Parts: sequence; structure tokens; C-alpha cells
Amino acid sequence: MQRQSLPFTIRHANSRDVSHLSEILTESFYRSSDRPVNFLQRCFTDWVFPILRYGIMLDLNSRFDDQTPMYACLVATHPTNKSQAIASLEICMRYVPSKTNRDFWLGRDTQQYPYIFNLAVHPQWRRRGVAKQLLHASEQIVKQWGFSRLYMHVLEDNQPALRLYDGVGYKLHSQEGTLNNWPLGRPRRFLLQKKF
Ligand SMILES: CC(C)(COP(=O)(O)OP(=O)(O)OC[C@H]1O[C@@H](n2cnc3c(N)ncnc32)[C@H](O)[C@@H]1OP(=O)(O)O)[C@@H](O)C(=O)NCCC(=O)NCCS
Repeated sequence: MQRQSLPFTIRHANSRDVSHLSEILTESFYRSSDRPVNFLQRCFTDWVFPILRYGIMLDLNSRFDDQTPMYACLVATHPTNKSQAIASLEICMRYVPSKTNRDFWLGRDTQQYPYIFNLAVHPQWRRRGVAKQLLHASEQIVKQWGFSRLYMHVLEDNQPALRLYDGVGYKLHSQEGTLNNWPLGRPRRFLLQKKF
């Protein structure tokens, strides 16, 4: 169900956002209702939730403190309360394979490119265009860094994210081999690319 779009503000995150961001990331990646979980998984997640959240807070704080030149954390804020983050996205430089899967026989060279990670929208604020706006803003930042392409990983079973990325122009660049994940029953990761 699509909901009404609202005028969200996108800005760079600061240390005061860490608490909201850790809540959103933990909720989105460990307890999101978009993905089916069984009873035992839910009990376990509820139990470890504070520990996971604390770990995420530490990670965010260390990235904010690092002052790495090409790193950005964007947040979308509540329409009426600019201090409350409701979604986030991070960009860093990451080595990605230069060749697609079809060109694997040409070698496995890697090159550094801007890479999106930790895109998450609080469950209450989904389907209002927030992620789309964050992705658009990330392209503007990457252009300022002098790049014209972006990469990200997505799990093959993450339908909402796959639809989102397809809709804004991301294409499949390469995918992990089935043998990496099949023994553990884990979904594969697709590496997506957008050139602009
Ligand atoms: C994936 C996610 C970031 C999407 O955020 P969002 O703000 O709800 O996305 P948007 O409102 O910008 O949606 C844009 C388009 O993406 C697609 N989309 C988003 N969520 C969808 C869903 N649950 N089902 C189907 N399509 C979906 C739709 O095409 C949508 O356009 P529409 O609403 O006009 O139909 C959000 O669901 C989320 O935080 N999920 C958990 C964390 C996660 O999986 N992050 C991605 C890691 S790779």
C-alpha cells in the first residue's frame, strides 16, 4: 500500500542522531516486519536487540569520529521535528569488482567506488518516498566527490529493496556464487550499480 508522500528533510547526520539511527537500523535489519521470521527467531531477536543496538551505536560513533574524507551519513528527518531521524543511508569508498560476472574470465580486478550501505527507513515511515529521496541525495554527494556511479549490495530475497533499486535505475553488476551460500541456506548478495 502506497502512503502519502511528505516533505522530508534530508541532511547530514551528527552525533545527536546516533540513538535514533541505531534504533532504526536494528529494527530494520534484525526485526523488520517485511521479512518473515519464525517464533524462535523473534524471541531470540527480542532478547539480543539491546546488544545489537549497542553494537550499532558504537559502530556509528566510530565512523562519525573517524572523519574519513569520502564518507557520508545522510538522514531523513520527521516532517515536523527536524531533530528526529526517521531514515538513514551511508556512503563510503569500497573496492568493487571491475568486471561483471559475464567477464569473470578477464580477471578479478577491483577498483574503489562510492558504495551505499545501511539504507533503512523506520517501519512507520515506509512507502512515502523517503528511501527514494535519500538515494537521490546520495547521487548529488557522489557527484561532488567527482564520481558518476554508485554501488550497493542487496540480498536476493529482499523484494522491497530490489523493487526500489530497480525503480531508480540500479542494474545488476555481479552476484555471489551459489556455492558461497547454498550450504548455509543463506540468500545470495547481488552487487548493483548505477551510472549517472
Ligand atoms: C527497502 C526500504 C529502504 C524502502 O524504503 P521506503 O522509504 O519504504 O521506500 P520508498 O517509499 O522510497 O519506495 C520507493 C519504491 O520502492 C518500491 N518499494 C518500496 N518498498 C516496497 C515494498 N514493501 N513492497 C514493494 N515495493 C516496495 C516501490 O516501487 C516504491 O514505489 P511506490 O511506493 O511508488 O510503489 C525499507 O523498506 C527498509 O528500510 N527496509 C529494511 C532495510 C533494508 O532492507 N534496506 C535495504 C538494504 S539493501
